[in-house]
Amino acid sequence: MEVVSKFVKTTLPNYLKSLPIPKSLGGFADLSGSDWVALLPFVGIVAYITYLSITALLGPSQPTKQPQKDKNEAVNLKIQKECPKVVNVVDLEELGDKTCYCRCWRSKKFPLCDGSHNAHNEETGDNVGPVVMKRNK
Ligand code: FES
Repeated sequence: MEVVSKFVKTTLPNYLKSLPIPKSLGGFADLSGSDWVALLPFVGIVAYITYLSITALLGPSQPTKQPQKDKNEAVNLKIQKECPKVVNVVDLEELGDKTCYCRCWRSKKFPLCDGSHNAHNEETGDNVGPVVMKRNK
């Protein structure tokens, strides 16, 4: 504790007295290079304390909001968007000999493929296609 007491009562005041702080703002123009070097640690500490004070006054930093995902990253752009999840149930007995189910989410007949994946693949360079359900004979 004695070290702290000596620092606060003696060392710090002596340091502050030794700083070449001019009496007016215009006096800063007359400071020499070595004066500026002597002021740098003091200015740095004052700036840091100011920063900490402002930060404390503004409260804890707000968590950065996750950037909104680009809607184009969504696979499903328009089908049943009002539903939390798109689920289609197909009765196997109703399947014909061959049925194609869309996997690109662009079909106007979703869940069935209408060939829209071709335009999507052309536009985007993607390579999606349907699931083809075929009955063995
Ligand atoms: S239209 Fe989507 S896979 Fe064919």
